[in-house]
Amino acid sequence: MDKFIIRGGTPLQGTIRISGAKNSALPCMAAAILTEDEVTLENIPDVRDIETERKLLASMGAEVELGYGRAHHRTRIRCALLSDPVAKYEIVKTMRASSLVLGPLIARTGMARVAMPGGCAIGGRPIDLHIKGLQAMGAEITQEHGYLEARAKRLRGAHIVFDKITVTGTEDLLMAAVLAGGETVMENCAREPEVTDLAALLTAMGARIEGAGASTIRVQGVERLHGARHRINPDRIEAGTFLVAGAITGGDVTLTGCNPNHLSAVLHKLQECGVVCDLTADTIRVRSQSNLRSADISTEEYPGFPTDMQAQFMALATQAEGTSLVTENIFENRFMHVQELVRMGANIRVDGRTATVRGRSPLSAAAVMASDLRASASLVLAALVAEGETIIDRVYHIDRGYERIEEKLRGVGAKIRRIGNVFREEPESA
Ligand code: EPZ
Repeated sequence: MDKFIIRGGTPLQGTIRISGAKNSALPCMAAAILTEDEVTLENIPDVRDIETERKLLASMGAEVELGYGRAHHRTRIRCALLSDPVAKYEIVKTMRASSLVLGPLIARTGMARVAMPGGCAIGGRPIDLHIKGLQAMGAEITQEHGYLEARAKRLRGAHIVFDKITVTGTEDLLMAAVLAGGETVMENCAREPEVTDLAALLTAMGARIEGAGASTIRVQGVERLHGARHRINPDRIEAGTFLVAGAITGGDVTLTGCNPNHLSAVLHKLQECGVVCDLTADTIRVRSQSNLRSADISTEEYPGFPTDMQAQFMALATQAEGTSLVTENIFENRFMHVQELVRMGANIRVDGRTATVRGRSPLSAAAVMASDLRASASLVLAALVAEGETIIDRVYHIDRGYERIEEKLRGVGAKIRRIGNVFREEPESA
């Protein structure tokens, strides 16, 4: 398994271009199931989860072309014939977002067999709200041998109120509703930019959607959808991660190709910590001139502080003067990075859903292990300021959601290199 070797102590200086958002690209690729025509998506990130989604769609009979040329990061998908509408466990176990094919498969073919996504490092990750919504739209759903089997002659419009705000639940049911008979009203929806991005693609394909990005979404079902070309949003979490990299190293980093409007809560918190942020329509420059100040965060659904930035912020908090309270409200087990940060010298105590971080603690290099995508990013950030050479193992977790992170960091002066086995091992289920 690949490892990163990182020598800390260098303030990062320079420019980083932000890639397309993995969590937009995944539902948008699934949306191609809804039409026989070709769907072209631009600004696709070159990350492992996208390759997994390509394999998943191809395994069902879709033609999927995926290219990362210099000029473009593009995928062309044509689901003319879905010969095998099954999301097999071998694929689903490596990426639970595979459940995003459930809604579109039923809407397009009238049936779907999707392996139940296991939990993952950060929590149980149930999909009961996806199932409840599909049943409200008339789907018959059974579970056996670890698979969900769903059938419906044609889904019918329904009034759905989500018990909890769920991002992929909102996306899955939105994709089911666009071909359902009649009107679907969904309340208590997720308002993440990834939902809005998906709705923009579906609208370009001929769907009739109102309210995406708000908590109530109305959909008038149509008979069929046609192909479209769509450019994926920039990745707000990748951007937030690199903002923290610039701040934690006391550097001066400019992000290009990003959307500051998607990062308000993160930018606000960085400024509270004493970080200087200069914005334009698609760039953010971050500098930390004075000592960092502590600040409390509490993760909330969008537009609140994103859970996907919690681990990264905690690394920053270890370098801030004072005590920061970090509360994780979305997932039940998203403090896997804490013990590894403590091994590097951080002073963090966890009590239930809140971690108390006392700074500033000088960090020292250690051999640490990545556990999930964002916890891994947190370890990279800590290693950038730790004294000595940190070795991070199991970096395939990072490769799932960050495009060539070591090249981007080296481009702004970080001393980071990847060492790997000759034979790349497939990771165990993540
Ligand atoms: C999406 O996951 C993202 N993944 C996650 O990003 C992100 O952390 C999460 O939203 C929250 O923002 C993708 O978009 C592919 P949820 P999702 O459904 O949709 C509970 C990353 O790092 N819930 O919004 O799976 C659930 O257990 C990943 O890129 C139910 O109880 O998250 C959680 O506590 C990690 N029943 C809460 O809701 C359900 O049916 C929010 O989960 C669905 C969810």
